[in-house]
Amino acid sequence: MATAAPPFFLLCWLLQAVSSAFPEEPGPLNYIPTEVVRRHAVFLGRPHRTWLRQEPLHIQRILQVNRTLYIGARDDLFRVELDIVAGDEMFYSKKRTWESNKNDIRICRMKGKHEDECRNFMKVLLRRPGGLFVCGTNAFNPLCANYTGDTLEMVGDTVSGMARCPYDPKHANVARFAEGNLFTATVTDFLAIDAVIYRSLGDSLALRTVKHDSKWFREPYFVSAVEWGPHIYFFFREIAMEFNYLEKVMVSRVARVCKRDLGGSQRVLEKQWTSFLKARLNCSVPGDSHFYFNLLHSTSPIIRMHGRDIILGVFSTPSNSIPGSAVCAFDMEQLASVFEGRFKEQKSSESIWTPVPDDFIPKPRPGGCAVQGSKFNSSNAFPDEMLNFVKTHPLMDEAVPSLGQRPWIVRTMVRYQLNKIVVDTEAGPHRNRTVLFLGSSRGNILKFLIMPNQDNSVTNSNIFLEELEGYNPDKCAEDSVQNRQLLSLTLDRPSHTLLLAFPSCLVRVPLARCQLYSRCMKNCIAARDPYCGWTRGSTCSFLRPGTRLPFEQDVEQGNVAHLGDCDGEGGGTYN
Ligand SMILES: *[C@@H]1O[C@H](CO)[C@@H](O)[C@H](O)[C@H]1NC(C)=O
Ligand SMILES: *[C@@H]1O[C@H](CO)[C@@H](O)[C@H](O)[C@H]1NC(C)=O
Ligand SMILES: *[C@@H]1O[C@H](CO)[C@@H](O)[C@H](O)[C@H]1NC(C)=O
Ligand SMILES: *[C@@H]1O[C@H](CO)[C@@H](O)[C@H](O)[C@H]1NC(C)=O
Ligand SMILES: *[C@@H]1O[C@H](CO)[C@@H](O)[C@H](O)[C@H]1NC(C)=O
Repeated sequence: MATAAPPFFLLCWLLQAVSSAFPEEPGPLNYIPTEVVRRHAVFLGRPHRTWLRQEPLHIQRILQVNRTLYIGARDDLFRVELDIVAGDEMFYSKKRTWESNKNDIRICRMKGKHEDECRNFMKVLLRRPGGLFVCGTNAFNPLCANYTGDTLEMVGDTVSGMARCPYDPKHANVARFAEGNLFTATVTDFLAIDAVIYRSLGDSLALRTVKHDSKWFREPYFVSAVEWGPHIYFFFREIAMEFNYLEKVMVSRVARVCKRDLGGSQRVLEKQWTSFLKARLNCSVPGDSHFYFNLLHSTSPIIRMHGRDIILGVFSTPSNSIPGSAVCAFDMEQLASVFEGRFKEQKSSESIWTPVPDDFIPKPRPGGCAVQGSKFNSSNAFPDEMLNFVKTHPLMDEAVPSLGQRPWIVRTMVRYQLNKIVVDTEAGPHRNRTVLFLGSSRGNILKFLIMPNQDNSVTNSNIFLEELEGYNPDKCAEDSVQNRQLLSLTLDRPSHTLLLAFPSCLVRVPLARCQLYSRCMKNCIAARDPYCGWTRGSTCSFLRPGTRLPFEQDVEQGNVAHLGDCDGEGGGTYN
C-alpha cells in the first residue's frame, strides 16, 4: 500500500532528532577507484575458454560446497570450480538446463503471467547427502528434484515444490535442511496469500503454520533460518498486528519452532506447529526520540564472538522515512530467553495489546518442546488448553534487545540501503580480527573493522576501512537499479575473496587491496587494514593467516606521525 509522504516539517523535525541522536558517521579511510574494481574476475555463464556473447544470466541462488560453487539461475544450473580462474573470468565446468515443459508454460500464460515469468527460476539450492536438492518456480507450478553434485544430473522423480518454493520468482523464500527434514518459509499458492513455515521430506509427518491467521503471519518477507539447539529460528519482517495504527507498520521478527515438533492433538493444531512463537527484533538508536530500523534485510550465520553465539542483522528504515541502515547484533541466549518471557494478547479487537498475566498461562508452558521421558513426551500429547493458548498467542510481549542496546553500525542520509552482510571473525595474520563486509542496494561494498572495547564488553567501536563499487557494468549487463541488486554476499576464505552475486553476473572481489598502498609505508599503515602489512622489500602486502613474514601494521591506532610524507603519487597505482 502506498502511504503518503510525511509532511516536510515532520521530516525536518526527524532530521534534527536524528542528527542529535546519531553519532558521527565518518566516511571510509579509502574509497577504491573504479578502475581498480573493474578488473575483478567475473562469472557470466560461459564455458571454459569461450568468449562468445550470450544472454545475460538470471542468477537466483548460489551454494558453496568446498571448492565448488553451484549457481541456480533461470532454467540453468551451473557448477563452477573456485580454484580455477582464467585471467579475469571464471567459467563453468558443468551446466544443466532444467526448463518448464510446454504445458506448464501454457497454463502459466493462460493465467495472465508474462512469458519472462513463465520460466524455471531456481529458488532453492541446498546440499543433500550425495548431491543437491533443487527447487524451481517452474512457470508458477513449483517443482523440486535431487541432482548429483558432480555431473548435475537429475536423479529420481521430481516432487511438488508447493510450500517449499514460491510460485513467483520475485518472492523471498528460505530453505534449509536439519536432521533430515527440509524447513522452508515461503508462500503456498499462486496468489501468494498463504504464507507458511513448513517442514517436510523427513521421517516425521509434514507440519505447517496455521493457515490465513494474521496473528501468525501478516504479509511476511522471509530472510533467513538458523539452527540453534533444539530449534530452528526464522528471521523475517511483516506488518505488525500489535499496533492500533491506521497505517501499516512493518517490523522485524524472529520466530522459532522445535525441530522435532510432531504437531497437536486431533482437536487442536493437528499437523500444525505446537511450538511456533515469534518476537520483535529491536534494532534502534536510543535517545530522546527513539529511532527504529524496522526492516530486516539479511542476517549473518551464527558466529562466535567474545564467548557468545551472536547473530548480526542488517536493517533499514522504510522507504517513506529518513533513509538509513543499521547493523545490530543479537545474543542467541538473550534471544532465546525472550521466548521464555511473557506472551502478548489483545483481549478484544478494540483493545490495545497487553502482556498476559502469569496466572493465565497454562501448563506445561505453551510453545515448549516435548521432552523425552516426561509426561508430555510428544507434542500431540499436550493438553488442548495449552495447544489452544499457543494457537492464539504466538507473539511474545518483549522485543529482543540488540547487544549493547544500540546498533554496531549506522549509516543515514546515504543514497543506498545496506542489505547484505558477511563477517570474517578470523581476519588478519593472527586470525584474531573481526571484519564486516556490507553490501548495498547499489552494489557497493563497505568494509568495517570491529574493535572490541578494552573491557571486552559487548559494545564495540568500528572503523570504516573501505568503500568500493562491486557491480561492473562493463562486464555484467547494462547499468540499472535491478542489475545492481546484490543477491548475496559470501566469503571464500581459502582464496581470500568475496563472492558478489548479481542477477546477471558473479563478481569476485579480494578481501583487501594492499597493493594500492605499496608505494609508501605511511599509506599502508594509515589504511589500518588488518589484511595488509608493510613487509620487507618496502611493499604493502596481503598477509596470509599465520604468515611468518615480518611485517608492520597499526590497526589499533593507524599512527603515522613518525613516518615521512608520501610524495605526490603516494596514493599508489595498481599493478
Ligand atoms: C568437503 O571437504 C571435506 C574436508 O576436506 C570433506 O570431508 C567433504 O567430504 C567434502 N564435501 C564434499 C561434498 O565434497
Ligand atoms: C532425494 O535424495 C534423498 C537422499 O539424499 C532421498 O531420501 C530421496 O528419496 C530422494 N528423492 C527423490 C525424489 O529421488
Ligand atoms: C511416551 O511415553 C509413553 C508412555 O508414557 C510411551 O508409550 C510412548 O512410546 C512415548 N513416546 C515417545 C515418542 O517417546
Ligand atoms: C528497544 O530498545 C530500547 C533501548 O534499550 C528501549 O528503550 C525500547 O523500549 C525498546 N523497544 C521495544 C519495542 O522493546
Ligand atoms: C592478535 O594476536 C596478536 C599476536 O598474538 C596480538 O599481538 C594482538 O594483540 C591480537 N589482537 C587482538 C585484537 O586480539
